[in-house]
Amino acid sequence: MIILGIETSCDETALSILKAEGEIDSLDFDVLGNTILSQVKLHEKYGGVLPFLAKREHAKNLIPLLKKTLKEANLYMEEKTKIPSDIIEKTSKILEREPDLFPQFIEFIKQTKKPDINTVGVTFGPGLEPALWVGINFAKALGLAWNMPVVPINHMEGHIVSVLTETMVKNRKSKVHKVEFPAIALLISGGHTELVLIKNWGNYEVIGKTRDDAVGEAFDKVARMLSLPYPGGKEISKLAGVERTSGDNSTPYILPRPMLHSPDLDFSFSGLKTAVLYTLKEIPEVTETIKQKIAKEFEDAVIDVIVAKTKKAMFQHETKTLIMGGGVSANKTIQKALKELVKEFKETKLLIPEQELSTDNALMIAIATYIKVTKDKTLLEVSDRKIVAEGNVKL
Ligand code: KG4
Ligand code: ZN
Repeated sequence: MIILGIETSCDETALSILKAEGEIDSLDFDVLGNTILSQVKLHEKYGGVLPFLAKREHAKNLIPLLKKTLKEANLYMEEKTKIPSDIIEKTSKILEREPDLFPQFIEFIKQTKKPDINTVGVTFGPGLEPALWVGINFAKALGLAWNMPVVPINHMEGHIVSVLTETMVKNRKSKVHKVEFPAIALLISGGHTELVLIKNWGNYEVIGKTRDDAVGEAFDKVARMLSLPYPGGKEISKLAGVERTSGDNSTPYILPRPMLHSPDLDFSFSGLKTAVLYTLKEIPEVTETIKQKIAKEFEDAVIDVIVAKTKKAMFQHETKTLIMGGGVSANKTIQKALKELVKEFKETKLLIPEQELSTDNALMIAIATYIKVTKDKTLLEVSDRKIVAEGNVKL
């Protein structure tokens, strides 16, 4: 089966074409195309993502990106195609709220041979609703024009399944990792911080979450306080790394480890962020060395809490696999801490997504689509399925 994955939940427009075969325990993946267009530069000056700007950019970029992805997959062929007027009419309804997309879409469909793609999977949430809607409407219009089923996918399920593949983007033919259940996923990104208990594919229970800021959000806000570029997670981590290798790890700056000893599996990062703000206020001149020390102490505080809560979750639930996912899981020091943690559990295997797949991408959406349709074949029926953007949808 060939699947087109579509991801527009935040500030990345991403498409992927995945050839997937096999049953759940013998998956076989072949990445035919995988593209991503980041809007980071555009949102940078606002210090965060503006939903309507993101929406406009997605609408502008989806058709050029689809063409590029089809070409990468060797599935693009120009061919004058007559589109029945009722399809044009229905498409104009579907894309009624996407005036930037509709004319481009019709032009493209008229000139492109229907590619050998069977199914479309699209993120319906969580995320920024205006941005999600563009992806959904685009998916529906494509489904209509090319007679394909459209499957709604939860973005967080995408992050979970992103660990299934290895060297996929580089080598295309993928090694597929086996996930043994029960598994626990630690999802850490700019928008989310969650511990998820997974009893089987499709069976998810959020057992811990942040009560305020997501961990990536805290990284980004602290980076801003230290005048580092947006998004700042990577920058903080770089500074902390310099401090770690400096040989002098003494620090006068001690930050709190919020909720470290709370009996639940929840997190809180807003107090930690505020503690950094107050610490900085007390310092007359924030030198590079001070920044490095604060970055390291901040990263250490985050790691202490993340490791403690993950460990607690693993004790509470027999855990055969620990899965990391989300942009922050690219952090090498966090990865190292979790590698150490799983050594304490003889039976547990740790799966970390490849760097390219830790942040938002559409390959994870295509993979989640395959898993979902493998479990429920009725999703493969072409129908006028109602799909609604749900900004705050839970797993
Ligand atoms: O998953 P993602 O691409 O988008 C969301 O769904 O939020 O995650 C982006 C987040 C940003 O907050 C970014 O600062 C953070 O991941 N991030 C990192 C690192 N690389 C990206 N945080 C800490 N250390 C890193 N190396
Ligand atoms: Zn994400």
